[in-house]
Amino acid sequence: MKENIVKRFKEVFGAEGDIRTFFAPGRVNLIGEHTDYNGGHVFPCALTIGTYAAVCRREDRKLRFYSMNFEASGVYESSLDDLKPAKEAGWTNYPKGVMWAFEQKGFSIPCGLDLMLYGNIPNGSGLSSSASVEVMTGYILKCLFGFDVTLQDIALIGQYAENNFNGVNCGIMDQFAIAMGKKENAIFLDTSDLSYEYAPILLKNAKIVISCSNKKRGLGDSKYNERRSECEEALAQLKTVVDIQSLGELDEEQFDRYQDAIKREVCRRRAKHAVYENQRTLKAVEALKANDVEQFGRLMNDSHVSLRDDYEVTGIELDTLVEEAWKTEGVIGSRMTGAGFGGCTVSIVKDEAVDAFIRQVGGAYRKKIGYDADFYVVDIGDGPSEI
Ligand code: GLA
Repeated sequence: MKENIVKRFKEVFGAEGDIRTFFAPGRVNLIGEHTDYNGGHVFPCALTIGTYAAVCRREDRKLRFYSMNFEASGVYESSLDDLKPAKEAGWTNYPKGVMWAFEQKGFSIPCGLDLMLYGNIPNGSGLSSSASVEVMTGYILKCLFGFDVTLQDIALIGQYAENNFNGVNCGIMDQFAIAMGKKENAIFLDTSDLSYEYAPILLKNAKIVISCSNKKRGLGDSKYNERRSECEEALAQLKTVVDIQSLGELDEEQFDRYQDAIKREVCRRRAKHAVYENQRTLKAVEALKANDVEQFGRLMNDSHVSLRDDYEVTGIELDTLVEEAWKTEGVIGSRMTGAGFGGCTVSIVKDEAVDAFIRQVGGAYRKKIGYDADFYVVDIGDGPSEI
């Protein structure tokens, strides 16, 4: 990959300077969905698929961007003196947002850049291609200009850019999972204080299979912000009867006791998901530690039901993939992953069942939805690196 991207870099930018190359992973969340902005726990892992970059410093303050995934769009030009979000700027709003965020945090970027990207994460699939680009940009700025930031700082700056430059009120999960990724490990992160622990995912005789619905998210971002504000409304009303700072502080029994304080039924369901999902995540990590993968799988299934019925972020495409997976022999657990509204599901499938899984779920999906899903058997990889 490195050779291809450097070759294309030279063709497109004609640059002969010191071209450096980087990689940042995508991520998949195993359990703990829509809990990260509710002070709960998440359990994601970085993947070995992600975004590759080639980059070279410039003498001036110009920024030139090119994506090998969108060759038809050509070179997009901007400047360090014009770091504003623009609809027509497409994906370049992500690296620009991170540069803007570094400047906001007091790091002055000394010169412009030529930046070429190539991603092998399916776009808009819920595997965090955008957070991958954000963390990559932060990592590049750190390496090129010696900025004194940790990987965790890069995650926080990426989230800051997403929230304040790109207008998506996301939590910290994606950027954190990507920046802090560790081969063969998931990250058990408490989003209330960012304490975390690595948990080895050594699946004996099973694989992680991602099924991509190929339904683009579209309205997803506005729906995402809507879910977040419904949770905030529920929390404000719960606070009138119980002393909490976030939904993540409640367990199921406490939620059931206090839930009548939440006036709108829809907000009660949203909050119920956030509370129960957080507790499921704690139980899932316990199950994994006890080597009980079957129980982990059952909790994944319960997570999907809650995201479908109470949080309402699945839709017919994700439900079809998951419900077909549940019917398939050798599937330990299956659920949607990421924000929802399209995107991907994650399944744990026994080795010998993977081929049949892809055939069966793929066939049923095409029949019901009318177009193909894509399947990826994935490995858990490290965070960003220079390659
Ligand atoms: C998106 C957001 C994350 C998280 C998930 C849902 O991926 O970026 O912060 O909220 O949705 O769990």
